Order: sequence, then C-alpha cells, then structure tokens
Amino acid sequence: MDRPRVWITRRLPEAGVRRLLQETEAEVWQDRLPPAREAILEQVRGCDGLLTLLTDPIDAEVMDAAGPQLKVISNYAVGFDNIDVPAATARGIVVTNTPEVLTETTADLAFALLLAAARRLPEGRQSVLEGDWLTWEPQYLLGQDVHGATLGIVGLGRIGQAVARRARGFSMRVLYSDPARRPEEKELGACWVEFDALLAQSDFISIHCPLTPETRGLFSAQALQRMKPTAMLVNTARGPVVETAALEQALRTGAIAGAALDVTDPEPLPAGHPLLALPNCLVVPHIASASVATRRRMAEMAAGNLLAVLRGERPENPVNPEVYGGDEN
Ligand code: GLV
Ligand code: GLV
Repeated sequence: MDRPRVWITRRLPEAGVRRLLQETEAEVWQDRLPPAREAILEQVRGCDGLLTLLTDPIDAEVMDAAGPQLKVISNYAVGFDNIDVPAATARGIVVTNTPEVLTETTADLAFALLLAAARRLPEGRQSVLEGDWLTWEPQYLLGQDVHGATLGIVGLGRIGQAVARRARGFSMRVLYSDPARRPEEKELGACWVEFDALLAQSDFISIHCPLTPETRGLFSAQALQRMKPTAMLVNTARGPVVETAALEQALRTGAIAGAALDVTDPEPLPAGHPLLALPNCLVVPHIASASVATRRRMAEMAAGNLLAVLRGERPENPVNPEVYGGDEN
C-alpha cells in the first residue's frame, strides 16, 4: 500500500512527530512564517492528512483543493476556530485538536499575566532599564492586591478550571460565567453569575472561552464600561473575543486599569499599534502553551490523532465525532 501523504504546516518539536515522519510521506513547511493562501491551496493537493496550526485558515476551498482522499485535519492547538468544522464534517473529514495536555501550562501563563499586570511588572522592568529606579519609594509603582480579590472567569472549561484552582491558592473569590453551570463549580468554590454581574464585580477577569460567533466581540465597549475602573482584563483565549479598539479606548481613558494579552486581534499587532504604546497593557506573543514539555506533548498528540485516522482507527481527540455516525463520544 502507498504511504499516505501528509502535509505539516510548520516545523514541530521533533520527538513528537518522528513516528509520523517515518510512517507517512510527510512534507513539512520550513518557513518561520505561515504558508500564504496560495501555498496552502497548492501544498494540500493529494494529501490524506493535514497537520495544521491555529494560524492556518482551513475552509471548504482548502478541503476541496486537497481532494476527496483527505481524511483528517489534525490541529496543533486546543482551539480550532481556524477550521471550518461543519465543512469538514460534510466531507467526512475528521478534525482533531490537542486538549488537556496544555491545560495547566496555559493556566500558568494566565496567572503569570494576571500577577504581572496587578503588580505592574512590565513598568517596573522598564523603569529599571531606563535608570529611573533611584531609591525605594513609598508611592512608587503601586499595584493591586491579587490575594483576596475577586476573579471573574469567562468560560469554566478545562483551562478556566485550572485557573480557578490557582486562584484558590491566592485566597481569591472566584466568579464564573458560562452558558451552562458546571458541576465542577462546587469543588472549585466558583460561583456562577450572569456575564453582566461578572463584569461589575470582578477585580480581575480572565477569558477562557473558545472563539465562536457568540463570543466574538464579547468584550465590547459596553462590556468594558461595566467593569470596575480598577479592574484588569487577561486574555489567553482568542484575540477577537475582545474588541481591540474598544479595549484601547478603555485603557486610555481609565475605564479599566489594565490588560494583559497573550492573544490579540489582529495577531500579531503591527509595530506601532496604539495598544503597544500603553503602559497599562502587557502584550506577549501567544505563548500560553509554550513550555518545552507541553509543546512536545501537543506534537505527540497531534501526530497520534492524525496517524490513528489514517490507520482507520478512531482518534483520541475528534472535535467532530459526528463523522462516525450516531455514536457521539
Ligand atoms: C492555542 O491558542 C491553542 O488553542 O492551543
Ligand atoms: C478550553 O477552554 C478548554 O476547555 O480546553
């Protein structure tokens, strides 16, 4: 039997993909930057499987350019908003993601951002570098207490829950909003509230919902206005959940006190973007899952999912199990 053809849209941690490279006819996109649209349409042709990144928009046109033999799109991310899942399902293509392995690592970064924003670490570092640290000063770089503060978690899924566990260690009061109440709320000591109440009561808000038509633009100018002027917003989910212009305005006018973003819209922000000039806005380059161990496990998981489908087995992490017919998992 011919070895299946696979396209991997970027270089991944080697240990994770070794087996995939051995067992398939795999091509790897070598550039540091993602393939442009034309390159995607060209490269997918004749592929049985694709291993894609969140920076690769995979829609019906791409699936059709690949051809009817395409069986699996394995996304190297927990989020899969870059993939038109209904279009894949309609074509019998399995879509998979990499949940769980990155949960704790992502929660670590969300908390790092929260602490950094609260205690003004970026401004402190800047001031040291600029020679502005003259002496110990009673009223220099005063921030907000994290312990005892109220944390609002938007989306109490796996990552939101991991953030809630960290918050308990800081004696925070934890509120959450979610379309559905979560059975885990009890052991987490998290209290479900309407989104508006979460906005009004939280000292820190951390976003952990997926990007969907319902969550796109959730943090609009109106929503940001409902937050406390002392509150800070942390986003490690997806950039478009927050309206960028509205956030910039809210930070500039003091409607909220600060923001710490691992994700932005657009992503990356172009040099000179007004958000980057604001001292109360910390931006890091979408690194929430970026630990050595987690990126390797993500590669193993993405490769394992892809190989399983090509072998005719059911992968561990299908996001559209309905392609298998009635037996939803
Ligand atoms: C990263 O953003 C992911 O979805 O894994
Ligand atoms: C995302 O929030 C997840 O539940 O993994």
